[in-house]
Amino acid sequence: MKSMTNIDSFGHVRGESLFIDDLDIKRNTLFALVFDSSKAHGKIKNLDISKAETIEGVIKIFTYKDIPGENQIGGILPDEPLLAENLVDYIGQPIAIIIAISEKIAKKAKAHIEIEIDELPIITGAKEAASQNQFINAPRTIKLGNTKKGFETSDFIFEGEVFTNGQEHLYLETQGAYAEPMENGNIKITSSTQGPTQVQKGVAKVLGIGMHKIEVDVIRLGGGFGGKEDQATPWAAMAALAAYRLRKPVKLILSRHDDLRMTGKRHPYESNFKIGLSKELKIMAFEVEFFQNSGAAADLSPAIAERTLFHATNSYFIPNVKTTVYSCKTNLPPNTAFRGFGGPQGMFVMEAAIAKVAHEIGVTSKEIQEINLFQEKDKTHYGQILTDVESRNSWNSAIKEFNYKKLYKDITSFNKKNKDFKKGIALMPICFGISFTNTPMNNARALVHVYQDGSIGISTGAVEMGQGVNTKLITIAAQSFSIAPEKIKIETTNTTRVANTSPSAASSTADLNGKALLKACLTIVKRLKNLAAKELKVNVQEISLHDELVYVKDKKSTLTWKVLIEKAMLERVALTENAHYATPIIHYNKTDEKGHPFAYHVFGTAILTSTVDCIRGTYTFDSIKIVHDYGKSMSKGIDLGQVEGALAQGIGWMTMEEIAYDKSGMLLSNALSTYKIPDIFSISEDINIKPLDTKGNEMAILKSKAVGEPPLMYGIGAYFAIQNAIKEFNPNYKMNFHTPMTPEKVLMGLYQN
Ligand code: MOS
Repeated sequence: MKSMTNIDSFGHVRGESLFIDDLDIKRNTLFALVFDSSKAHGKIKNLDISKAETIEGVIKIFTYKDIPGENQIGGILPDEPLLAENLVDYIGQPIAIIIAISEKIAKKAKAHIEIEIDELPIITGAKEAASQNQFINAPRTIKLGNTKKGFETSDFIFEGEVFTNGQEHLYLETQGAYAEPMENGNIKITSSTQGPTQVQKGVAKVLGIGMHKIEVDVIRLGGGFGGKEDQATPWAAMAALAAYRLRKPVKLILSRHDDLRMTGKRHPYESNFKIGLSKELKIMAFEVEFFQNSGAAADLSPAIAERTLFHATNSYFIPNVKTTVYSCKTNLPPNTAFRGFGGPQGMFVMEAAIAKVAHEIGVTSKEIQEINLFQEKDKTHYGQILTDVESRNSWNSAIKEFNYKKLYKDITSFNKKNKDFKKGIALMPICFGISFTNTPMNNARALVHVYQDGSIGISTGAVEMGQGVNTKLITIAAQSFSIAPEKIKIETTNTTRVANTSPSAASSTADLNGKALLKACLTIVKRLKNLAAKELKVNVQEISLHDELVYVKDKKSTLTWKVLIEKAMLERVALTENAHYATPIIHYNKTDEKGHPFAYHVFGTAILTSTVDCIRGTYTFDSIKIVHDYGKSMSKGIDLGQVEGALAQGIGWMTMEEIAYDKSGMLLSNALSTYKIPDIFSISEDINIKPLDTKGNEMAILKSKAVGEPPLMYGIGAYFAIQNAIKEFNPNYKMNFHTPMTPEKVLMGLYQN
């Protein structure tokens, strides 16, 4: 089957696609604005909303005292109030919600709220928090073998420190929700969330009513990237609280400034590593301690920490491993999911350790990477035995297809000839586990209606956030029934149609929801084939459906899809099906920290080359060449877009996106003038992404592997390509691993003595 064009492409370019802010609002809609903390840590001594409430057009100002249910939105741990009570823990923490007849009036009222805060000591760094015993939960360790013995048998041992900065999601559509009171005290919420059920559950808790009274509908998101996995809930809860109490529709959309200040980001990590290698460059032992800057509340931090541990050895087999993570409590907004979900932070440290060794003993990182790559049936430190391993396959294929030898030679000769410009090259292999690491979350449902005219409506728990999942789902249904995609409608994601959904996250949305959808479709197909066999008086095994026609033994019959459905109506055959899918095989035991958490892994290798301007410290990427393991891609255009987008986001994280908080916990990079994200010129004009030819994986939907997160980590190579160029210029350059590698840092490195 030919890959479908993204079904949203026309709507998007014509500006016709609907986002929350585009919806026609109901009469009497009120507008909400959040009043947040201006201090990073302190006791609220006095909060005076009386002046603000008297402003004309202000309907009400809600504080925690107005919450009928629990003032609690913590997903993993109950440590996060919706509205601050007596204590504030970060700048941007919501304290009150202003409800007015217009946003303008709400803004005016905000300036009239008075607050007195008795300041408490502020912690902004992860190790700083650890030194004061400020943790979200207990540390966690996953190990394999015996690192002590591993170091004893090592010929080279090196230690180092690593810092990876956070990253702003910068979804085009900011956080928001529209809540409407329905009859009998029910509430309907349109939310920009990756997790409709999270919102439903969170709102139910805050309002103190059953989940059945809350309907959450999601049309699509203007980007999520993890930022709307858990952190879409508070805004929906605030809008719902006001709608519930005032019996009026309430709209709450964060301004960009509010969104940047109030929401959490990718977790910054401070890490220590110790690595030991044999003379043959085999990694014998690896120890790493991760200090995760979790922010002021748990949010998804423990789950993200778990994935960091799983990905701590990236694509390498190491017989003796000890990985520990500390989730550290700081006075920053709770940091949260971000594409890769802790995996990138883990993989960067591994690559930094290799780069350090390479630098110290005078070999290339490539030599170390190559010899330690995973092989079939290798056992990871978390106990999973790897199968269908494509590490060496993708590596060798990248080296061969893109002629690494020539690239390397050209760079070497360029560097010999040029003084003011230097080039660097880096290889970046990836190995990323697919599944929610929390096994129970790996399930999904789909609801399929075949209407009596032969057209189809499908609902799943998948949220479209620009990643193209809806197009993939239509592809699956169209293929199952063998009808034109135009005859299939994908419905909004709605909690009353598909319940108890896992968020659209972990790169698993198409796999989980797609498998459920496939199951539902095939059940209806089976019924229709039975009916066709009866009508045509043949054996059901001989029946097949092709292009809206019924075939008998590969020959066209007189029966068409349309007529078959008409007959199904007359015969009272069920044309609706609801199916449930739960990933088989996976399991994990958190007590012994061993198991088989992932359905499968995604592999690939990138080769990145950069040129550094050694006078200015600026850099460009000459080429980025990737061999990526798509399995058997069902949507080639969408999957290519995912690889390119993730790569750009990974390079942004590694090079120019610099989150800056000052010591008072205030976000300095609070606008696009101070927070730079990559544009098309920042990546490379020469991007070449080749599919690795593999048989695909049965655990992936239609053998088309998950693609959302894994390619982000190709971007890690950008750091090392630049660093290698700096080394060419400055023999005194001391290796450091402190991201992002901004031009300022490059310049310092170039002239370090
Ligand atoms: Mo994604 S970072 O698993 O929402």
